[in-house]
Amino acid sequence: MAAGCAVEAFFETAPILKDEDAIKQTVETFFHQHYVQHSRLACVTSGGTTVPLERRCVRFIDNFSSGNRGAASTEYFLKAGYAVIFLYRRGTVQPFCRSAPEDALLTCLEPDDYLGVKVRRVFSFDVEQAVRSNHEALVQHKILKVPYTTLFEYLQILRIIASASFRLQRLAMFYLAAAVSDFYVPWESMGEHKIQSAGGSLAMQLASVPKMIKVLREIWAPLAFCVSFKLETDQTILIQKAKDALSKYGVHAVVANELSTRRNKVTVVTHEGEVVIEKTEQHPDVEMGLVEYLCGKHTEFLNKQEEY
Ligand code: PMT
Repeated sequence: MAAGCAVEAFFETAPILKDEDAIKQTVETFFHQHYVQHSRLACVTSGGTTVPLERRCVRFIDNFSSGNRGAASTEYFLKAGYAVIFLYRRGTVQPFCRSAPEDALLTCLEPDDYLGVKVRRVFSFDVEQAVRSNHEALVQHKILKVPYTTLFEYLQILRIIASASFRLQRLAMFYLAAAVSDFYVPWESMGEHKIQSAGGSLAMQLASVPKMIKVLREIWAPLAFCVSFKLETDQTILIQKAKDALSKYGVHAVVANELSTRRNKVTVVTHEGEVVIEKTEQHPDVEMGLVEYLCGKHTEFLNKQEEY
């Protein structure tokens, strides 16, 4: 099937997106606000998509991602003055809460006779910082959080955001850190009910998901600055795969990372070459140097366009 037809078929056969009109409205309003203020905006995608195996889903295939990359990057984009649409997988790490314990509510709070509950002294600094930073971003309309779970939801919402980004044109950046499945069960060939185990082993054929970055670059948001990610577990093929992605999908930069070292090191591949960014004393999160570097590249991109 031709690439364009495969993309159309994917969306035509996808289940209806719940709250589609409300999501469109919220996203468009957010873009309009930042268009009026002429501010830069990053759409940061985060977490991994699920692929349901049944319509009334009991079982699913998951893509690995804790959401740490997306959450940390969102904080640094906000610090750099960007507005952020944070498209995140439900239940994954959130901006300003990266160091929170798993049962944050129960660990950070304690009963108090006067207030009912209060923050335990040992957590009070971190909790106050997180609450203040989050509150500031929300009241200044700097962040819009949009959750997804399935591959269908992720791609439908990404298309809505990308299509609405035309207002900001080159001021918009797509930072596609979510781990997106390459395989799925098409909705029309999926059974309604839980797959029964009585029949013994299970053989399933998965269809391939069309690569949406290409469509995003060429059709949905052709003027935006676009950064994709390349994740591999084999270091020896990583950089070549990132270079291939750069030329194949026409993105402006590819961030290459290897699963076990992803927290400490990334390599940004652009048409000008490769730059290694590592965690250091000055850059306690690798995302700090990464976002700083990409914001610089975005500035160069904006300046270049103005010369024409
Ligand atoms: O969340 P953490 O635990 O902190 O981990 C961060 C991370 C490792 C998940 C992140 O840094 C990362 O590498 N994310 C991209 C993972 C991924 O999907 O890699 P890929 O090589 O399978 O895909 C490459 C690119 O193609 C991605 O930008 C993806 O958005 C895009 N894609 C993938 C499938 C598809 N059908 N269409 C796409 O456009």
